[in-house]
Order: sequence, then C-alpha cells, then structure tokens
Amino acid sequence: MDNVIDLRSDTVTRPTDAMRTAMAQAEVGDDVFGDDPAVNAFQERLAQLLGFPAALFVSSGTQSNLCALLSHCGRGEEYIAGAEAHLYSHEGGGAAALGGIQPQPLPHQDGTLDLADIEAAIKPDDPHFARSRLLCLENTFSGTVIAPEYVQAATALARKHHLATHLDGARMFNAAVAGGGDPYEGARKIVEPFDSVSVCFSKGLGAPVGSVLLGSTEFIGQARRWRKALGGGMRQAGVLAAAASYALDHHVERLADDHANAALFAEILDGVPGLEVGPARTNMVFARPVPGVTPPDLLERLAAQGVLCTGGRPQFRFVFHLDVSRADAERAAHLVRETVAASAA
Ligand SMILES: Cc1ncc(COP(=O)(O)O)c(C=O)c1O
Repeated sequence: MDNVIDLRSDTVTRPTDAMRTAMAQAEVGDDVFGDDPAVNAFQERLAQLLGFPAALFVSSGTQSNLCALLSHCGRGEEYIAGAEAHLYSHEGGGAAALGGIQPQPLPHQDGTLDLADIEAAIKPDDPHFARSRLLCLENTFSGTVIAPEYVQAATALARKHHLATHLDGARMFNAAVAGGGDPYEGARKIVEPFDSVSVCFSKGLGAPVGSVLLGSTEFIGQARRWRKALGGGMRQAGVLAAAASYALDHHVERLADDHANAALFAEILDGVPGLEVGPARTNMVFARPVPGVTPPDLLERLAAQGVLCTGGRPQFRFVFHLDVSRADAERAAHLVRETVAASAA
C-alpha cells in the first residue's frame, strides 16, 4: 500500500540521500585492526562531545549494552535494573546466557527504581549472595525523560555501595532535546553521572546501523575484547560510522519535530471514545484500549488503513520519527479516530 505511516518504532527510518552520500564518501580501513579513519574519528568525536575518555562503535544497542554488562560484571555477579528495562527484558537474556551474570530486576515506575528498593537489593559481602556490581538506568525510558535529580540520587547511592553505573541511552538525545537549550550540552549533562553509556544512532537519529559505548579507557578496552568475542568486529565499518556522524550533525535538533508531531497526534486523539490516550512522551504516544469498546483487532484494522503501530497488550504504541511528517502525524491521528469510531459504531 502507498502512503503507509509506520509508527511501530523509530528504528524503521531509512537513510536520507544526504546520509547515503556521506556514507559513500567515507574513508575506510579495517576497523578490527583499528585502521578505519571514519570509525576512529567518530569514536574520538563522541567521546570528546560527551566527556568520556574512550568510545567504541558497535553494531547495535543490544551489543552495546551486552558489552557493557560483560565488561562491568563477571560470572556469578549481579546487575540491578528495572523489570522493564530494555537490557533486562528485551535483549534475549544475553548477559545470563553468555556471561553467567545474574540480573536483579526491581519494580519500575516510569523508568525509575525506588531508592529504598535499590539499597535493599544490594547484597552484603557474603558467599551466599551474588556480588552486586552494577546499577543500570535507561533514559529516555519508553519516551519518558528521567529527572536529573533522580539520576543524581540513584547514581550516588550506587557509588556509596561501590557499584558501577551504566546508562542505556538508546534515546538519550531525545531527552537532551526535550530539556531545551543546546542539546549537545544537555546530552553531556545527562551522561555525566554514569561510568558507562550506550547511545544508539539507528533510532530517532536515523542511521541504518550503529551504537556507541562510552566509558573509561580500561573499560572500553575490555568492551572491545567482548565485541570481538560476540562477533561484532566489523571491517570497513567507516561507511556506518559516517552515517552515524552525519546523524549527529544533522538529526539531533530535529528530534524536536518528532516530539511536536507526537504531541499533535495525542492532542487530536484526546477524548476519542474507545482509547485512553496518554500525553506525548518525547517521540512516543501510548493508548490503552477500553474493554468492550476498542475492537480486539484494532492493530489489523489500522494496518488496513495504512497506519502501523505496535501493542494492544495492554497498550498501543505510536512512535514519531524522521520518516513521519507533520501532515502524516495529523493524518494518522484522524485515521485512528475514524477507525476506532467506525468499529465502535
Ligand atoms: C531502550 C533501548 N535500548 C536498547 C535497544 C536495543 O537496540 P538495538 O535494536 O539496536 O539492538 C532498544 C531497541 O529498540 C531500546 O529501545
């Protein structure tokens, strides 16, 4: 079908012509030998921009988080994360499967973990227990920006107990843009409290592939070893780093458009019978079905109208990105409204 509006995820973006040109022009080498100039320059640039000693370009957010977990924790050691944290709940259990690392999931409240729960979950130094090593947070969490005061308190608590801290910042730049002001400066402040950070370029930033893991020189050296063991050593990866670098230059500030489109979509759908539509959270909108009113096959009905989204169990999720214009957002909202109304009639 022509004119499909794909709101399933911001990972569906396709590289723009200008990004493809930047990729084609990249100077490349063998990155496993450390010889790729585009990868090296991008890693150095991002480390400097975000205030870390070192950075590692990897194939995906999952690989980045996994390299981080494997580098922070050994076998029989433990990381603390929210029960809905992507790295715990949606990354195939990689840390347990490949590293013998035990997760300690805690109840999640809009991306935050209760500080008392964190403190209670940190194990005493006793051979009965796994050794607590790491606290992981995510920002944005399902589109929600985590308050800097909370991050300060949680990371200070971790440090007090000698735990390292990792941020899954897959959509960290959405949080930085939502904060207003210079987004690069904002990003630096968001990542500053953490020992390591993972940032994705293949989501709202629109690159086809690529994430970057940041941390100390020693930590990144360890992560580089794990990346190789995981099969993530890429050769002429400069074409991919060039896309990510282009995204960093051209697609950060425009994330504000995605946030505005999400807000417009939520506004148009406000009060629609059959769906409880929440406010936009950066580039995402969530809507709960109303039992007995929302058709059970709404996802399929929307797809037939050319609007793709995910969920329904229990929430529908609509994600706004580079390939969704303001007119698309408006049209999608009206199509959702009409589809729900027609089904309820
Ligand atoms: C918060 C978060 N972290 C990590 C990832 C993993 O990224 P990737 O799909 O590149 O492995 C995702 C993927 O959507 C995500 O939403």
